[in-house]
Amino acid sequence: MRMLTHSGIFSENEENMYSLTPVSSILVQNKSLDLSGFLLAMLHPFVVNPFQSMSAWFKSDGEPSPFSVEYGCGVWEMTERNFNFNTVFNEGMASDSNFLTNVLLEECGHVFEGLKSLVDVGGGTGSTAMAIAEAFPTVSCSVLELPQVVSTIKEKGCVEFIAGDMFDYIPPADAVLLKWILHDWNDEECVSILKRCKEAIISREDGGGKVIIIDVVMGSNKCYEKSNTSQIYMDMLMMVMCNGAERGEQEWEKIFIDSGFKDYKITPTLGLRSVIEVYP
Ligand SMILES: C[S@@+](CC[C@H](N)C(=O)[O-])C[C@H]1O[C@@H](n2cnc3c(N)ncnc32)[C@H](O)[C@@H]1O
Repeated sequence: MRMLTHSGIFSENEENMYSLTPVSSILVQNKSLDLSGFLLAMLHPFVVNPFQSMSAWFKSDGEPSPFSVEYGCGVWEMTERNFNFNTVFNEGMASDSNFLTNVLLEECGHVFEGLKSLVDVGGGTGSTAMAIAEAFPTVSCSVLELPQVVSTIKEKGCVEFIAGDMFDYIPPADAVLLKWILHDWNDEECVSILKRCKEAIISREDGGGKVIIIDVVMGSNKCYEKSNTSQIYMDMLMMVMCNGAERGEQEWEKIFIDSGFKDYKITPTLGLRSVIEVYP
């Protein structure tokens, strides 16, 4: 208890009574703001163990990531092979989405105004798409996901789920949402994904759709030191899990230009993450 109090998980009063702090109150299961699922996913052995393989990865002959050194496959092959990891990972992402969409819709709801359709690419079990569909009933929302994720969906609401591969095809929509997708991939792979997104949205000549990215922009939240620390941890995690990376504005801009986009706008209102609207 002393250690947990010292690290800010509990507070202790003069009568030695312990109480929840803001940190631990968001880890209480089944409350409206509950990030416990995300924490459990981040502490899954398949996420933690690959950190032990960094040295072997440095010495390896072109292995993509410490994860692939440890397990001989990539993260998405692992979610396909291992039911427990698939479940824990998807629940973790859903828990983050439930937490984030409250802020997203309150602070950045304007991003979705005027859209008729939106496809959430790699949208997991649909938490974000369902929240957008509820807040904007005139936006027809769909999720493109890998078959191992779509096959587990029990509650669809008014969201359509499409099993597929974003590197092959993205269904047409006014806007494509990419939440926590591009940081999983290297620059060339990001350009391939964004080119598919550009094919899916309305061209500039016909009115112009957009891609809405929710991801880290390194150093975006200069006044809050803890956000910078979290961004650096996330950068390490992406390197270890999938040879991905967190990116600064200049790195993002290069990827957008290489994918054929003309313009972008960053709104840094989601703590360690930002909303980036990218226009053809
Ligand atoms: C980090 S998770 C983010 C999930 C969700 N967007 C969120 O933020 O809660 C990345 C997602 O991309 C999906 N994914 C990975 N490769 C994909 C592919 N080739 N096509 C479609 N989805 C893919 C994974 O199944 C996973 O759900």
